[in-house]
Parts: sequence; structure tokens; C-alpha cells
Amino acid sequence: MALDLVPTPDALAAALTETARLVEAQLDALLPVPASAEAKLIEAMRYAVLNGGKRMRAFLVMEVAKLFSVNRTCAARVAASVEMLHAYSLVHDDLPAMDDDDLRRGQPSCHKKFDEATAILAGDALQTRAFEVLAEPDTHDDTEARCELVLALAAASGMRGMVGGQMIDMESEGLQLSGPEITRLQALKTGRLIQYAAEAGAILGRASAQQRHLIAAYGRELGGAFQIYDDVLDETASAADLGKTAGKDAAQGKATMVSILGLERARAQAEHLADQAASHLESFGERADLLRALARFTVTRKS
Ligand code: IPE
Ligand code: IPE
Ligand code: MG
Ligand code: MG
Ligand code: MG
Repeated sequence: MALDLVPTPDALAAALTETARLVEAQLDALLPVPASAEAKLIEAMRYAVLNGGKRMRAFLVMEVAKLFSVNRTCAARVAASVEMLHAYSLVHDDLPAMDDDDLRRGQPSCHKKFDEATAILAGDALQTRAFEVLAEPDTHDDTEARCELVLALAAASGMRGMVGGQMIDMESEGLQLSGPEITRLQALKTGRLIQYAAEAGAILGRASAQQRHLIAAYGRELGGAFQIYDDVLDETASAADLGKTAGKDAAQGKATMVSILGLERARAQAEHLADQAASHLESFGERADLLRALARFTVTRKS
């Protein structure tokens, strides 16, 4: 492909900003604060999910959905749903019982802004609201498509996905895991949800099995690159750039690729996986250029 057809980083930045605007409008509408006794719960949910973030998972949903000409509002609902699930995972990840992190997206973590009980409940309710939104008729005309989204998100986020990976992450503190063990840990805790976000766009678009397979492969390798690079940034970036505490993986003895390979080899592995991810998009032609740019961004970002 001619180089001038590859979108510039500016084009990707503009597209990410546009997605953030759309998805945040959806989140705002999906999480109204009631004038009743539980209002604090919804305020904490809104704090956790509307306080910034790159919106990369939302972008994956929207951009893959675009390949299959999905209605933008339907895609934005699914994008909002995955951002709720992701925000729940961050709120719980930051709790004192887990990574004990006081800073998230440049602001006090949810349990610091509110309190631990509220943060636990806000995470719980963000999770259930994410599934509720998928199941609501406005998400897709076809009940089967909605059911498939619910099933895919449950598989990606539960015991065989994010939560399972978080369990291994906690159990591995202070241990030296092998490369394949770390790859599995990261595929579960981070990769599955990123893969889901890409696949959700294909489910919404009723993509063929072959197309879905390619999108899943893209998402899987992108997810692998994403977590390795998150670990690189933990070691190399400042808290000011990251919006979260820097250097905490080494301090907490986390099992990361950086811990076993060193920075440069971990970075090279992330870049290799990002290239592999992009290689699955060939048959989508230039309509997938922003998804290719996203793969590059994943391993060059500053936060
Ligand atoms: C952070 O994810 C948690 C990981 C899975 C490593 P992001 O880096 O996507 O966080 P936000 O949404 O941009 O804040
Ligand atoms: C968390 O991984 C992945 C989740 C499932 C939330 P990290 O613990 O490395 O995420 P950060 O660095 O705190 O964002
Ligand atoms: Mg963690
Ligand atoms: Mg953490
Ligand atoms: Mg991290």
C-alpha cells in the first residue's frame, strides 16, 4: 500500500477524539443520576467511567462496526457497554486489596474519591449495567445478535477471561513466571476484553465466520501487544504522563514481560505482536487503515 494512504497519527488522534465524544454522550445518557437514596452509587459509576481514558476498546467496537456498515448509535451503545466493563475492572484493580493504587486517569482512584464500599459497589453495578445495555432491544434488532454479544462479553470478562487473569496476576506477585505463563496471564486479564471489543463490531455487523475469525485474530494479538506495552510504560513513563502511579509493577513484584525479558526485548515483542495484529487486516483493504494505525499507536503511545 502506498505510504500516503496510511493515516497519519493525527488522523487516528482525531478519530479517537470523535469516538470518545460519541461514547461519552451515550454513557451520560445510560447512567442518569436518580434523585433517590442510591444516587451516590451512580455518581461513583459516572466518576469511574466518564473521567477520561483513551477509549481504545470503544474505538475498536466502532471502527470494526464501520467495516460492516453497522448503525452508529447501536455501535456506540456496545462501545459504551465495553467501557463500563473496563472501568469496573479498573476500579476493582485499584482497590487496596488488589494493586492499591491511588491515582487513575490523573485523578484520585474511585475508592479514594469516594470510599472502598462505594468503589466495590460502583464496579459491581458498572458490570451489570454493561450486560443490561447489551441485552436491551435498542442495541440490535436481532435478539440472536444481542444474545451473542452478552455471551461473548461474559466469556471475555469472567473466570475464563479478565477475572481469571486478575486472579493469576495476584497469585503471581513475587514469583518468576515463564514467558508462556505470562503470555497466558496477560491474554486473560487484558487480551480477551480487547479481542471481544473487536469481535463485538463483527457480531453487530453479522460478519461471516471467516471475517469474524480475522477480526478475532487482530484483537487477540493487539491485546497481547497492549498489555506488554502497558508494562513497558509502567517502567519508563512518568505518573504525570500515565495518569496512574509509575513503577508499581517492579515495586509489587508483578510478573511482566519486562521483568523476565528486560525493557528492550519486551518492547520488541510488543511491536512484533502489533505488526502481526495488523497483518490479519489485509483483506479489508484501506477501510481498515485506522485499525492498522491503532496497532501502531498501541506500541508507541505515551499513556
Ligand atoms: C489500563 O487500560 C488497564 C490495562 C488493561 C492495562 P487502558 O490503558 O486502556 O486505560 P484507559 O481506559 O486508557 O484509562
Ligand atoms: C490491569 O492490569 C488489567 C485489568 C484487568 C484492570 P494493570 O494492573 O497493569 O493495569 P494498570 O496498570 O493498573 O492500569
Ligand atoms: Mg493489576
Ligand atoms: Mg493496576
Ligand atoms: Mg499496568
